[in-house]
Amino acid sequence: METKFQPFLRQSAPARALMRWFGVIATLAALPGRALAEDWGMGAANSKLSVPDVFAPVSTPAHQISTLAWFVIAITAAIFVVVAGLLTYAIVRFRAGPGHDDREPPQVYGSNPIEFAWTVVPILIVFVLILTTARTIYTVQAAPRPPNAINVRVIGHQWWWEVHYPDLGVVTANEIHVPVSDPKNPTPTFLDLESADVAHSFWVPRLAGKTDLIPNRKNTMWIAPHEPGTYLGQCAEFCGTEHALMLLRVYVQPRAEFDDWVASQQRQVALEPSVAHGRQVFESTACVNCHTVRGTVADGRFGPDLTHLMSRETLAAGAAMNTPEHLKIWIKDPSVIKPGVLMPAMNLDDQDLDAVAGYLATLH
Ligand code: CUA
Repeated sequence: METKFQPFLRQSAPARALMRWFGVIATLAALPGRALAEDWGMGAANSKLSVPDVFAPVSTPAHQISTLAWFVIAITAAIFVVVAGLLTYAIVRFRAGPGHDDREPPQVYGSNPIEFAWTVVPILIVFVLILTTARTIYTVQAAPRPPNAINVRVIGHQWWWEVHYPDLGVVTANEIHVPVSDPKNPTPTFLDLESADVAHSFWVPRLAGKTDLIPNRKNTMWIAPHEPGTYLGQCAEFCGTEHALMLLRVYVQPRAEFDDWVASQQRQVALEPSVAHGRQVFESTACVNCHTVRGTVADGRFGPDLTHLMSRETLAAGAAMNTPEHLKIWIKDPSVIKPGVLMPAMNLDDQDLDAVAGYLATLH
């Protein structure tokens, strides 16, 4: 196993740090650009959802992380106030006045009490920060997986999320459904994170911290959300052209609603005779090499599972709302919505395009 990580280790630390910052800056830079360009219905849809805010946690690990963040901010803010206050006082109190002579102020060297104070106080502060941080990391990392946990396997791809529920036989993409977890009787969701290509990072700020998805490795994280709702997330590790549009959503639902969703995902798709031609076009093009529609010849694994495509609100990993026109634009030329996307344009004529879109529209 060790040897497989060598290429990663060989990348120098400064290069990796630079890449990470590039990712952050690219994400931020992309925001206003995306807002100005055609947003495929996402702006209006997302404006109804809560802002992905790390300081508004609704899930157990996110609570612990934000408590720690506030503690660190309080300590560092106190240090800032003391240092800035002393500096301001010194600047004002000892500024050159009218009666100022050029006499040198008293020079203090080697004062043991002063040296002692400014060595010990920072050490104590750093020690407190290390202990509280280590405690939070430990409680988040070492949480046992209870038998009633929902297990989800998430595989990062350029630039979408493959989602499996191994115990439930459900496969979907980009939109993860989980039950609300009652703090008195928690039903957490454990996510096993893997990558099919490069490093990605799973980040839904209101639910938990970031965890990387790394090739040849399985990382695990968990969430125990207390409030139903739709929470927006985003890939948080720069992973190529469409990193900024590798979006995800987590739907936190009351248990009964979640069970209904699972049942609907487990159902076999009813194949409607009226779209037989569209299905035939779909199955006779390269679509089936990358996409699966359970119960048909389409069994590709490179792209998202389309068995219940219409049960998802978004297309293209959250780049567009899943509407009939967007679906058609997407099939005709995906790069219109997501430049650099790995899905090729199938060059279907208008008739076949309508037929394929009509077939996909029946995959509820
Ligand atoms: Cu995947 Cu960034």
